[in-house]
Amino acid sequence: MRTHYCGELNTSQLDQEVMLVGWAHRRRDHGGVIFIDLRDREGRVQVVFDPDTEATFATAERVRSEFVLQVTGRVRHRPEGTVNPDLSTGEIEVLGKDLVILNSAETPPFHLDDDSVSEEHRLRYRYIDLRRPEMLERIRLRARVTRELRAYLDDNGFLDIETPILTRATPEGARDYLVPSRTHPGEFFALPQSPQLFKQLLMMSGMDRYYQLVRCFRDEDLRADRQPEFTQLDIETSFMDEDRIMALTEDMIRGLFDKVLGVKLDNPFPRMTYQEAVQRFGSDRPDLRVKLELIDVGDLMQGVDFKVFAGPAVDPKGRVAALRLPKGCELTRKEIDDYTKFVGIYGARGLAYIKVNEVSKGRDGLQSPILKFLPDDVIEQIMQRTGAEDGDLVFFGADKASIVNEALGALRVKLGEDRGLMEGEWKPLWVIDFPMFDWDDNTGRWNSLHHPFTAPKEEHLDLLKSDPGNCHSRAYDMVLNGTELGGGSIRIHRGDLQKQVFELLGISDEEAEDKFGFLLNALKYGCPPHGGLAFGLDRLVMLMTGTQSIREVMAFPKTQTASCPLTNAPSAVPDSQLADLNIRLRKIPGKTPES
Ligand code: AMO
Ligand code: AMP
Repeated sequence: MRTHYCGELNTSQLDQEVMLVGWAHRRRDHGGVIFIDLRDREGRVQVVFDPDTEATFATAERVRSEFVLQVTGRVRHRPEGTVNPDLSTGEIEVLGKDLVILNSAETPPFHLDDDSVSEEHRLRYRYIDLRRPEMLERIRLRARVTRELRAYLDDNGFLDIETPILTRATPEGARDYLVPSRTHPGEFFALPQSPQLFKQLLMMSGMDRYYQLVRCFRDEDLRADRQPEFTQLDIETSFMDEDRIMALTEDMIRGLFDKVLGVKLDNPFPRMTYQEAVQRFGSDRPDLRVKLELIDVGDLMQGVDFKVFAGPAVDPKGRVAALRLPKGCELTRKEIDDYTKFVGIYGARGLAYIKVNEVSKGRDGLQSPILKFLPDDVIEQIMQRTGAEDGDLVFFGADKASIVNEALGALRVKLGEDRGLMEGEWKPLWVIDFPMFDWDDNTGRWNSLHHPFTAPKEEHLDLLKSDPGNCHSRAYDMVLNGTELGGGSIRIHRGDLQKQVFELLGISDEEAEDKFGFLLNALKYGCPPHGGLAFGLDRLVMLMTGTQSIREVMAFPKTQTASCPLTNAPSAVPDSQLADLNIRLRKIPGKTPES
């Protein structure tokens, strides 16, 4: 139906007759001449119809936005002064000879050039939204990324192996999506939160190197970088230690950025312990483009008259930290109030600050509602420790360490963005040396920081019994610009150790047998040492395309409330279908079962 893509045309086809198909992006009538911008996947070209070809001209007059057209015509130079340097086809145009309307279109719900459309509306008409060149570019880049990743892994001896979607729960920390079984009344499949256990079983079957681009399902609170179904590049290897796995996957990501974006990432990626990341940046996925750091001042605050600071300062689980903002004196009262609200999102109950007008004047050179609580020597030490200079502002967070870390950790990134303090474009790093467990005050139990199949460090095996809180794991996360791109670990490959870890997590023998009996069994029959990791593909493409949400790089994402405005999923199902599944619905307030 065509000889060329619209966007492919340039001066090398001058005077050639071409046949094009595509959508009418815009039609303009100019003094008896009709211009149609014809658009296809590869771009746009201007087609001109003049009244000399009467029948064709009459057809052109009927064309409206988003009609599907077939055009035959001759490529010619645009007249002088009408060249459009912003368009790849901007030097030429096609003089239309024949025009067929392959399909008409109703007035679209929004014009492709309109960028004020709500996301809900865009998702409802996603097939139109995806016609926008920028959406197409992102989807195209995503395809390029998966191609390069596959090629790398194929070339390195990895086998692409599929694993079940209808399966049992995998504990990755979210709620499961369940699928009722018709053939086993009252029983349910769970959709995989990841293929974790299957890929471990594949190592036990001797597959040696596995990968898969695989959909994962997690029913969790959604954010800009979280969707209920998302794609992982999932990897597992046998007989490789963490250094080999990190080197290999780092090489893959570096190659990807080079090939697709022409970007040279650090070689090697810097590594940072979990402890250091949290201490300095308040986060286990620090954005290293922002230089601001959290500085501990708890030791200075233990005796001060300000309970807000003194309390957390003496609490072993508390933290009092400062964050110096260069030139922060410029902040207005309102801006400080806004930042106080911002840290409130993370549970902070306030955001104390000191404006540093003139350091050399001591107390008199400072301005702050909390000065009255702080003795001179404490003030002096704060100034010294934070390295405050004239014109700076020092923020303070005081609370449980987890709250201070989250709040000031998020604040340093926000300040970085708002105040133009980002340095460098790409800052990858590995975070290593994670604790195996963290203590959950609510349940009074240890939780896995990664997942229950992660191996403890050999030299910390004793701590499993004596001091689980200080036992570190063989886990690693790849972080890029403050986003956790991927995470993985060396796994437990011995049954006794796996049982010991289950026990520590408060998983009883019966529960372990019930949920993971197949794994414990498989561990008995010759399990190789193994490990791997999984990358979040959507997050990777989000970063590579410079978008703010993974929804922008997924063809058909869900809304923040995990629904699809396009298909109206999820939806009610007929009673007959429920009966097949032996399911009877409870009355849901405000809803009838069929609504
Ligand atoms: P983890 O749970 O860290 O590890 O997931 C791996 C990566 O997947 C991405 N990711 C998500 N992306 C979008 N939406 C979500 N809801 C979402 N949740 C996670 C992140 C994350 O780094 N089985 C282990 C991997 C392993 O140990 O090999 C796992 O799933 O980028
Ligand atoms: P107040 O005495 O409650 O008026 O607080 C004095 C200053 O301390 C205000 O600037 C508050 O924002 C700040 N503040 C209160 N609680 C905290 C906290 N937990 N961490 C840091 N600053 C706080």
